[in-house]
Amino acid sequence: MMSPNDMSTVCLLGSPRRGGNSDALAERFVQQAELHGAPTETFALSQLQFNGCQNLFRCKEDLDHCGQVDGLTPVLEAVTQAQVLVLASPVYFTSVTGQLKLAIDRFFSFFVPGYATAQIKSRLTPGRHLVFLQTQGEPEDRYGDLMESFSASFKGLGFDHHHLVRAWGVREPGDINAETGALKECDAAALRIYAGSK
Ligand SMILES: Cc1cc2nc3c(=O)[nH]c(=O)nc-3n(C[C@H](O)[C@H](O)[C@H](O)COP(=O)(O)O)c2cc1C
Repeated sequence: MMSPNDMSTVCLLGSPRRGGNSDALAERFVQQAELHGAPTETFALSQLQFNGCQNLFRCKEDLDHCGQVDGLTPVLEAVTQAQVLVLASPVYFTSVTGQLKLAIDRFFSFFVPGYATAQIKSRLTPGRHLVFLQTQGEPEDRYGDLMESFSASFKGLGFDHHHLVRAWGVREPGDINAETGALKECDAAALRIYAGSK
């Protein structure tokens, strides 16, 4: 098993509200990752200037990375090194935030040319972890796991192991503090990932 020191952890904050509920889950997970000894880096997507994928196709034709150079470029570079990718997002209109979706679309650049039929589809090494932290105002029975529909794509990219923490009924910043279950699930996910516990 890999040592936590080698498990570079990159966290993308999808909410435009700093210090809100999804930020709090992300902060808790990242704190735990650091306690386990993992190097971490966090990016607040709403503070970066970037576009979604513009379908330039340069990443499939003459480059091995995204052809757009903008605020997301360092994020994409960090993700290539990330053994653990943490995506935190509130539910916005039944989906992840626009900021996070724009960033995910740019992950298209991690697929190799001919990925649809290639056996090895990704430029990224396999065996990585994806941690999705989802907050929502509505009750538990709404939406389910928003990452489920992204699951096959992320597996294709090398994020084989998926971990979900959800908090529902949280609207105002700080509501998450009453959701000790969700915060403890962040600790448990970190333990599974970095200490290899079941
Ligand atoms: C633009 C917008 C759209 C939202 N849409 C939904 C929604 O469709 N379903 C829901 O349960 N909550 C919705 N919410 C509430 C947020 O998901 C909830 O307040 C969440 O805890 C915010 O996370 P944050 O504190 O990290 O920003 C919406 C909030 C905003 C601002």
